[in-house]
Amino acid sequence: MNAHLNAVNSRLYTPLNALQTHAEHLQAHTLSDLIGGDSAPARERSRALAFTFNTLHLDLSKQRVTQETLSLLTDWAHSCGVEEQRNALFAGAKVNISEQRAALHMAARWPASAVPPKGMEDAAAFCQHQRLRLAEMVERLHQGEWFGATGETITDVVHIGVGGSDLGPKMISETLASRPSQTRINLHYVSSMDGAQLLPLMESLNPATTLLVLASKSFTTADTQFNVRTALAWLSDGLEIDTPTVCRHQLVGVSSKPEKMTDLGIPDAHQLVFKDWIGGRFSLWSPIGVSVAMQLGMASFNALLEGAHAMDRHFLEAPLSENMPTLMALVGAWNCQFLNISTHAVLPYDGRLKSLPAYLQQLEMESNGKSVRLDGCSVTHATCPIIWGDVGPNAQHAFYQLLHQGGHTVSADFVAVAEREGGFSDNVQASLVAQEQLTLANCLAQAQLFALGDDAIPQGLRGHMAQGYRGNQPNSLLLLKQLDAWSIGALLALYEHKVFVQSVLWSLNPFDQPGVELGKKLANSLYNTLAGDDSEQDVVQDPSTEQLLLKIAEWRQSPSHSSLSTHYWKQN
Ligand code: F6P
Repeated sequence: MNAHLNAVNSRLYTPLNALQTHAEHLQAHTLSDLIGGDSAPARERSRALAFTFNTLHLDLSKQRVTQETLSLLTDWAHSCGVEEQRNALFAGAKVNISEQRAALHMAARWPASAVPPKGMEDAAAFCQHQRLRLAEMVERLHQGEWFGATGETITDVVHIGVGGSDLGPKMISETLASRPSQTRINLHYVSSMDGAQLLPLMESLNPATTLLVLASKSFTTADTQFNVRTALAWLSDGLEIDTPTVCRHQLVGVSSKPEKMTDLGIPDAHQLVFKDWIGGRFSLWSPIGVSVAMQLGMASFNALLEGAHAMDRHFLEAPLSENMPTLMALVGAWNCQFLNISTHAVLPYDGRLKSLPAYLQQLEMESNGKSVRLDGCSVTHATCPIIWGDVGPNAQHAFYQLLHQGGHTVSADFVAVAEREGGFSDNVQASLVAQEQLTLANCLAQAQLFALGDDAIPQGLRGHMAQGYRGNQPNSLLLLKQLDAWSIGALLALYEHKVFVQSVLWSLNPFDQPGVELGKKLANSLYNTLAGDDSEQDVVQDPSTEQLLLKIAEWRQSPSHSSLSTHYWKQN
């Protein structure tokens, strides 16, 4: 009888069932129980759940996991074919099934000195060629040999792009060019379709010395096209030179569509091309990063690529049980799929990483915010959590109250930097070191409090301070030795591969984004309506939107509020 039951049970054993049972078991304990106080097993657990790769240290010991959890999760990864899929990715297989394309962003950072994996050779050679062209452009600019249409030397670059054509470069600029001494050229970013970011630039920049970089993989994104049109009008009017001439001198194009760049009047020499096998949100390493290279110089840009490449090698070569991107992916999937935590905060403890949450929002949510599997069936569990966040120290004074005492379970990534670069007088340096230590102390304190809740209250303060800290908010800490180009490159590649591994676990295609298309189409129709063109018949009528259109029309025709109040004031 027992033998029969055992046989039935063993037939029922799957990594998913084992994880489900294990999750129920772990949920009966608090995180505080798991972390375990000052005992030898607790110390051993903490040691076993921390991983270092070069200048990156990943601490998973405040997650609701044990060594057994990691082992079960790794079994799951094996059973899903993570290694096979990873190898196929690097070999240029058409992993983006819906668009029948490879996903070879790793080729954009593959160094000329290293032999690429079989299948990636042509892609790597193409990317290296474009990188040489990019370096020539950067050199020309830095030598002061790039002249505008009136013959003046270019001093400012305006990078115009959105989504993947904006978020990565902008984040790198904020991270690595936070001090004027680190920059070789003045760089400005414009992404929002409303022109709001252009207004101050058009007032403050000199049109004779401004170069536009139009970054758009598709070269059709309305947000970017409209911004460029306004910027070109500003250049042309300001310089009193026709737009084609301005385009010839002061417009660089970066796209996978060279013919569209040519149509706009961008000369070949000012075009940088990348192929459609690099997805927008994975394109920082491609010529989309040209503005960053212009701002920081090629040495920093190359270091960024080298860091990302080192993480590629680690992802390719390390066993899954020590593979940082795989471990991050598994713990993330564990949290949302097995522990039902649907929201994940990204909390950088360094102001230079302020845009990391926004960057990861696109990377993770546009990639894995899906619920239809590769086989066409619906996913029956949660996939990518809602990613959000802000600079941790500032958020402590804003939304941490909810995280500590509100009703939601939230997982988090704390990201901290161990040491800062110097370069200031002794007094200033000493003061900055104190600020560094204060920031690190706050990061560690918050990570501890997230996990332990009331159990983090020191013995001496018990009974003297208010309780009610919920704890049990699982979190990881990613510690960077320093925030240099190499480390940030490795960090972003770590997240890219995390996203890929999760897509394999959930059987999703992380490289397309069909969910963003319809919104663009509807906006196009409504744009025509607002612009007075009613010929568009193919729109769904809905009274709610109609009523808003009427209100907009009414207000756009009547005098503005400010002129009404001026009028009122004059009369009185
Ligand atoms: O609308 C989504 C999206 O297609 C992103 O995937 C992409 O990064 C962004 O728009 C910008 O696209 P493009 O680089 O083609 O202008």
